[in-house]
Amino acid sequence: MNKKYVAPPYRIKMVEPIKVTTKKERIEYLKTAGYNPFSLRSEDVYIDLLTDSGTGAMSHYQWAALMMGDEAYAGSRSFYKFEKVVKDLTGYKYVIPAHQGRGAEQVVLPQLVKHDNMVFISNMHFDTTRAHVELAGARAIDCVIPECFDTVNYHPFKGNFDLVKLEEIIREKGSNNVAGIIMTVTNNSAGGQPVSHENLRGVKEIANKYGITLLIDGARYAENSFFVKEREEGYQDKSIKEIARELFDMADIFLMSAKKDGLVNIGGIIAIKNDEDLFNQCRTFIVPMEGFPTYGGLAGRDMEALAVGLLEALEFDYQQHRIDQVRYLGDKLREGGVPIQYPTGGHAVFVDCKLFVPHIPYHQFPAQSVCNETYLEAGVRPVEIGSFLLGRDPDTHENLESPLELMRLTIPRRTYTYAHLDVVAEAVINVYNRRETLKGLEFDYEPPVLRHFTARLKPIK
Ligand code: F0G
Repeated sequence: MNKKYVAPPYRIKMVEPIKVTTKKERIEYLKTAGYNPFSLRSEDVYIDLLTDSGTGAMSHYQWAALMMGDEAYAGSRSFYKFEKVVKDLTGYKYVIPAHQGRGAEQVVLPQLVKHDNMVFISNMHFDTTRAHVELAGARAIDCVIPECFDTVNYHPFKGNFDLVKLEEIIREKGSNNVAGIIMTVTNNSAGGQPVSHENLRGVKEIANKYGITLLIDGARYAENSFFVKEREEGYQDKSIKEIARELFDMADIFLMSAKKDGLVNIGGIIAIKNDEDLFNQCRTFIVPMEGFPTYGGLAGRDMEALAVGLLEALEFDYQQHRIDQVRYLGDKLREGGVPIQYPTGGHAVFVDCKLFVPHIPYHQFPAQSVCNETYLEAGVRPVEIGSFLLGRDPDTHENLESPLELMRLTIPRRTYTYAHLDVVAEAVINVYNRRETLKGLEFDYEPPVLRHFTARLKPIK
């Protein structure tokens, strides 16, 4: 049977009304927001595809678990429940909760930076990971395979590390100057693209050879395990949980933004395989940063919901539908001629705006222009991942040119239906069909750091 799509393995028990606005209203809203969708009010958005982070729907098991929260400051029962789930999943000895992914990063990464001039090497650092590497006084180097930047051609694992380059960088910097190797699964910044276990094994061998700590930035590790099952030879008969366990076995530290594959609205995880000294350092450090080590910035009820969500995200039926929603939107866009990062990854469809609006140069933010037009078209809010986000060279103050100009249509978990995705596809295809009319943007106000969140822009006449 040639199925059009995988139907959801859940039914709807509670609904949140969303408002359809008119184009005239949206023109006003976008102007007021300084042509920056981050400044829109969410109630003026019909379908919100800004992020999959903390925007998903919890199951009734999770809502029930909330009621069991033990809000003790120290030694909460909810912590021990959460800790057991994470230990069982990872096989790691030490577990600390954090308020979200960046909370975990700010506690762990500085502990690994032992002296000046150290570097972290990642397939691709997520923005906050890069920021915490730099705040810890180190530098962040990306080392993904070149196929990642070719959006047109199929590659099953565009998140893979370039192993030859990885070893070259280690030799060049000197292994004692490498604070850690960070494997981001899936590789968010270039399309939610998965990493193969063959590649991970290669990275682990190199890490072992040079005595370097291997970290998993695993916000979407369960989605990665699903792709391994689907695309990598030898994994078809393994469960997602077994595949995830193999991933954890190969690393030393697991950092997670639980707002993604934890299926919760807030939460983060630090798990350490067996380095007791590191655990003790993190436990000390987390108190002033996040909170006491048995709550780490979370309420007891948050840890209860997370303990349940972590297991739900490993269910095959859940993942099959989740990944299929993304594939469905990607296929519709491709059928309409829209260039996307192909194949689609785990959490979003990434539209290649260099190919979409080649007449808009990088310093006029082509992907931001397509995002804005998509909002005007149908009240859909995407997010730009390109030169607008990248910022300026700290020395020359010139706008940096991103290798990819992407519009991310990020799908929240268990939240929208295929009918919503049809609306999104139609909107983007309509914009594509009048792409020559799109204009670039310039600054009205540019903040000095992390400009994309609060900048105000205006269309160039
Ligand atoms: N690592 C990865 C790979 C991420 O995608 C994110 C967040 C983080 C770390 C930080 O986690 O937000 O819980 O502090 N990504 C979100 C996104 C924000 O929209 O892609 P956080």
